[in-house]
This record gives sequence, structure tokens and C-alpha cells, in this order.
Amino acid sequence: MSAPPFPLPSTLQELAGVAVRDLARDFGTPTYVYDAAGITERVARLRAFDVVRYAQKANSNLAVLDLVRRAGALVDAVSAGEIHRALAAGWAASGEPSPIVYTADLFDREALELVLEHGLAVNCGSPDMIDQYGERVDGGEITLRVNPGFGHGHSRKTNTGGPHSKHGIWHEQLEACVARAAHYDLRVTGLHVHIGSGVDMRHLAQVAEACCELAVRTGPGLQSISAGGGLPTRYREGDPEPDIAAYFAIWDGVRERLKRGLGHPVRLEIEPGRFLVAESGWLVTEVRAVKRTSQHTFVLVDAGFNVLARPVLYGAYHPMALVPADADPRPLRDVVVAGPLCESGDIFTQDEGGLVRTQPLPEARVGDLLVIGGAGAYGAVMASNYNSKPLPAEVLLRAGKAQLVRARQTLEDLVRGEIIP
Ligand code: LLP
Repeated sequence: MSAPPFPLPSTLQELAGVAVRDLARDFGTPTYVYDAAGITERVARLRAFDVVRYAQKANSNLAVLDLVRRAGALVDAVSAGEIHRALAAGWAASGEPSPIVYTADLFDREALELVLEHGLAVNCGSPDMIDQYGERVDGGEITLRVNPGFGHGHSRKTNTGGPHSKHGIWHEQLEACVARAAHYDLRVTGLHVHIGSGVDMRHLAQVAEACCELAVRTGPGLQSISAGGGLPTRYREGDPEPDIAAYFAIWDGVRERLKRGLGHPVRLEIEPGRFLVAESGWLVTEVRAVKRTSQHTFVLVDAGFNVLARPVLYGAYHPMALVPADADPRPLRDVVVAGPLCESGDIFTQDEGGLVRTQPLPEARVGDLLVIGGAGAYGAVMASNYNSKPLPAEVLLRAGKAQLVRARQTLEDLVRGEIIP
């Protein structure tokens, strides 16, 4: 099994044994490229946990879901669309532990109907969810997502705990929600805590303590705890690899304490998104213009925040590598990398708040390719049609071969469903 290159070199020719030029020739640009072996290897790294439940919001391409399922992971769904994808990728609707869990802070009507139709497990993040589900079923069980009162994240926008967060059931209302569930003959059998994404390990460890205390308060019917997602991945040179063994040990300790207290086994789940896919995905773009202002050299590529939104949304850093079109020497330059959209925020090199910064890159010319790394999570799934740009192609690399796993949208696709009355 191969691991994706880290850190990304400043120039490269191949990704997982496939020439980037061939990818651009065969599939066009911009194109998302995923390394199958890298994703499978990440699932395997978490095997100490009883259940690895993939948070498919990070990358829900059916080919990626299929890979993750074959690697032994179960799946989380946050919408009717994600339920549909989970079923289409081959997870069964029911089983022990539940192959698919619907986790959200509300049921939209379509999601509630799908959950009921397939008898899916639900993880409720609001008291109203308990009522809406309880009114429609003849008893059963649910799990609760709890906001432990604190949170953390790589950006304010990815912090999902604390009093400003809309996520989960506020910890002080836990007992009230267990009683509310009992009113409908629903037993609360699990607790789930996810405080944010891109969190450091120290904060993730705090969650385990909080979860233990909440689990005790949930009562004797507790059968599972979920550590949520949030495992960090490496974007910059020097970013540490998360210490999975140490992290597992912390949660295992909590699980053991609960097991002793309850007198029965407690299942330990983890719900990663980014950790499984981020480092195994790249965005391949083409340099289409290079221009200067008094301050900056702008390298303009054919993908913008319509394709990769993380920089404009969070000021997220992504490593970049040039695939030069020739063998000329290319000295490093500090450049601003931007996209094609008619919007000044369409810049890949920006800090949170929209402050433009530069990133060192070998001198880029029109016709070179630019590979943006760390793009396997929250890349394609957050793409849009802004400026009437078709969604990019997605390609899976496996054993040195490239397979199209999502066709690039066509211009016809863009207007499908629109009506001139
Ligand atoms: N579980 C729950 C309940 C979540 O809300 C999330 C992420 C995850 C698991 C997976 O978190 P991960 O392991 O991927 O950190 N678009 C943002 C990230 C938003 C995450 C939302 N929830 C980004 O690009 O950084």
C-alpha cells in the first residue's frame, strides 16, 4: 500500500504512478484526482476502533464510498442525498451496528421519510428531532449528539461545540432529552460528541472526558459512544501526523470505565471525514494566465472557488506543486494563485478574513499544470456552478491506472431543469 506524498514537492510529474500530463490530456482540467490505496490505508489505520463510520460529507463520490465500504467502514449520512448515496454504494439499511446512521440537527421532510422508509438509525441533534421521529415510530432506540459546552476547529466556521454552535443537544438538556425519548418508548443507546474539524489532539482528548461524564448521565441503556470526527490532517510542511494510538488509548480508557460502571460492553465508534480522504486527493488545474501588479505576480488557473472553496471560506492553506510544460529551470517565486471567477475573493492564497498572501512556487507559465494538494476532503463536495462553470471531473487512481469516477458536467447539464415560461 502506498501513502500519498507529503509534503508535496514544489514540482512533480506523477501522482500515484500516473503522469499528471496524461490525466490532463485524458480528462481535461480542472479535475479532482483520488488515490485509492491512500484512502484504503487510512481506514486501516483506525482499525483499533470498533467502528469507523465515514463522514461522507468530506467526499461522497460513489467510487470513494465504495472503496471505504470495502475497506470495512460504516457510514454517516446528514441528508436525504447522503442516505441515497450510502444505499447506492452498497451499505445495508439495517444491521448491528447500524451500517448507516442519519446524524443531523433537524429532519427535513425528505430525510425523515427516507429514514422511516429504510428503518435507518438516527442520531438526534435537537429535541425536535426526537419528537418528530418518536411520533412516527413504534418505540425503538436512538442516539444523541451532544454539545458538551465547548468546541474547537481550524476556523470559527468549523467549530461545532460551545454556546455559539447550533450543533447537538446542549449538555444541560441531556436528561430532559432522555426523558423526552422515553415518552415515545425510545431508548437512548448511544452518545455522540463532535466538537469541530481540524482540531488539535489536545482538544480532542478533552472531549473524551466530557463524553464519559455525559455517558454516565445518559443511563444504563448506553451501548455505544462515538468520538465524532475532527482528526486533523497535514496540509503544511511540519504539520504533525496525528498519533492515532494515543488517541485510541484515551477513548478506550473512557470506554473501559463505562463498561465497568455499566456492567456491559460499550462500542467505540469514530467518525472521520477529512482524515480518510484529504491527503489522498489533488486538484489538477492548468495555468491559463500569468500577470503582474506593482505588488504581486498572479498565477491564474482554470479552477476557482467554484471548484475548491476552502481558501475563500476559511482562509485554508493548500500545498501546491507545478507540473512544468518544459525542462527549463524554474526558480521559486512568491506568487498569488487565483482562479477564473469574476469575484475578487477568487484567490487560493488567502488567510482567513480574505487577506491576500503569497505562496512560493516554481516560476509558472501558461500551459503548465498546477496541482493543489490536500483536496480530497471538502473539495469536490463543496463545488458549485457559480459563474456558470460546470462541476469538474473526478478520477480515481488505482494500481497505476486512472478511471473516471464522475464525468465533468457539460454546458447542457448547467441549464437542465431551467424553464423559460
Ligand atoms: N461528524 C460530524 C457530526 C461532523 O459534523 C463532521 C464534520 C464530521 C464528523 C467529520 O469531520 P472531519 O473528520 O472531516 O473533520 N468544510 C469544512 C469542514 C466542515 C466539517 C463539518 N462537519 C472544511 O473544509 O474544513
